[in-house]
Amino acid sequence: MLKFREPPAQEPLSGRRFARFHRWPAIVAFLLVAGAGFDTQAQSGVLTATQPTAAIASANALATNAGFEVLNKGGNAVDAAVAVATTLSVVQPEASGMGGGFLALIHDAATGKDTFIDAREMAPAAVNSADYANADGSPNRDHSVNGPLAAGIPGYPAGLAYMVEKYGKLPLSVSVAPAIRIAENGFHPTESLVRSIQQVGDVLRRYPASKAKFFPGGKAPQTTDLFRDKAQARTLKAFAAKGAKGFYAGPVAEEMVAAVKAAGGTWTMADLAAYEARERTPIELNYAGYKVITAPPVSSGGVAIAEMLNILAGIDLKDMGEVQRMHYVIEAMRRAFRDHNEYLGDPDFVKMPLDMLLSPYYADGLRQSILPDRATKSSWLPAAHAKEPGMHTMHFSIIDQHGNMVSMTCTVNTTLGSKFVAGKSGILLNDEMDDFALVAGKPNAFGLIGGSANAPVAHKRMLSSMSPSLVIGKDRLLVIGSPGGSTIITQVLEGILGFVDGKSASEITAQKRYHHQYLPDRVDLERNAFSADVIDGLRAMGYEINDQRSWGNMNVVTWDTTTGVKAAASDPRNPAGLGKVETIH
Ligand code: DON
Repeated sequence: MLKFREPPAQEPLSGRRFARFHRWPAIVAFLLVAGAGFDTQAQSGVLTATQPTAAIASANALATNAGFEVLNKGGNAVDAAVAVATTLSVVQPEASGMGGGFLALIHDAATGKDTFIDAREMAPAAVNSADYANADGSPNRDHSVNGPLAAGIPGYPAGLAYMVEKYGKLPLSVSVAPAIRIAENGFHPTESLVRSIQQVGDVLRRYPASKAKFFPGGKAPQTTDLFRDKAQARTLKAFAAKGAKGFYAGPVAEEMVAAVKAAGGTWTMADLAAYEARERTPIELNYAGYKVITAPPVSSGGVAIAEMLNILAGIDLKDMGEVQRMHYVIEAMRRAFRDHNEYLGDPDFVKMPLDMLLSPYYADGLRQSILPDRATKSSWLPAAHAKEPGMHTMHFSIIDQHGNMVSMTCTVNTTLGSKFVAGKSGILLNDEMDDFALVAGKPNAFGLIGGSANAPVAHKRMLSSMSPSLVIGKDRLLVIGSPGGSTIITQVLEGILGFVDGKSASEITAQKRYHHQYLPDRVDLERNAFSADVIDGLRAMGYEINDQRSWGNMNVVTWDTTTGVKAAASDPRNPAGLGKVETIH
């Protein structure tokens, strides 16, 4: 039977009160084990000291180290985020970069204020849905994921420049220096980059600048090679010297527009000049005595996570058996994704019933519709099918020595984005146009089906699943996010539930994963993670099961504010990740 419980009585943590505990001296700080027992390069050890420590978890060791380099130069979490993000643009172009976009949550320790930076890409003015359909009306998948038509106007540089100007301490020239140095001096590509270049090599070879960048000397790089990116280093220098203007105007912009046009795209200088990062108010809710701060639209993630947590808040999950608990969580996922497909889009273009979607009363109704012992069919909940995505995006989490926090998810969308490098700029463009509902009723790379709320319109931003989030309790804190397309939302939900259950940073990143997104009406289970009993138990409730998915590259940091212990953990599924806690000098 469904066990209802009273919504937990709780005193929401006010910004003031939260700011106060940041000022507690760190009496004892531990250098924590992160991802211990897994094949990560996480540091371990114990330190008893009064030094202020900081924690960074990213999917790449060079990027994590760049963040610490900038903290040690006097930067704060925002400056460190710029160092991590620009370094990822160089060392992990398959996942994110200057030609893409990001969504970030920032917590300012001094004021207790949380804010959200929307640096999502936007459609160029001349966007035309017909470009993404074949003559028979079927989707033209090549145009939506490959080449310049697939690319939205990037938001990454504008977003970084905006956040550093408003919330950083150091000039861009200092924060971008590690990325420029690594691009010029070279680095050993990760297995992921080598594999990505091989996977999409045929498409990369279509475009001369992509071929030059990713096949230096005519050969695909190996992990033992030194990979340099001098063209991107030049563009990063222009950005470091002039900020957003160094990218969206002048020679870099002219080069990108000329290359896009020559290859059949529609970008203009006016499109680039029109791009602005937006600062938005995060979504906040209380769950199980914790304050959850998460991404507002243009992310669909925060609304969906809030809806799922509001549904689950009325169910006592704690002592339930695994199958029963998964059943309720899956049914919450199903209901939130139904609304995701229907209602959500760019808030500057679409009116969304957010009051309804975020209301606990609405969640009460949805909870009542869950059958205690059977799967609901998605077709019983009226409304919109799917295939395995090629993945790439990147999340990193930072808490600096003062308690400032950044939770940031960056993307070029699928592996190596549009695979199109815009001429001599060295900038690999995203394929984010595929996140629009380009052909009504047809799924995108992540199987998501949208409607008019997410239709492509000039200068509109495409809906995103990226869900950078913070969870704040009386004495414990979590900075969390992940790549994974539509599975970002459910990974973050499961991470929050794990944290509320008392799990550590490395336990959260290692948790086995499951996912449902309304359509297709199927539960995806992580390969080799669940017992036959669990799989049979779910099938007996009526669920269609795919137990062969594999996904995840989560990076989280946690902070126990009573002991001062910070922990950073990278997903054990990614050997190149590095979660690290360091004393700042
Ligand atoms: O913004 C989004 O929802 C997608 N472009 C994210 C893509 C992604 O996470 C791919 N990574 N694994």
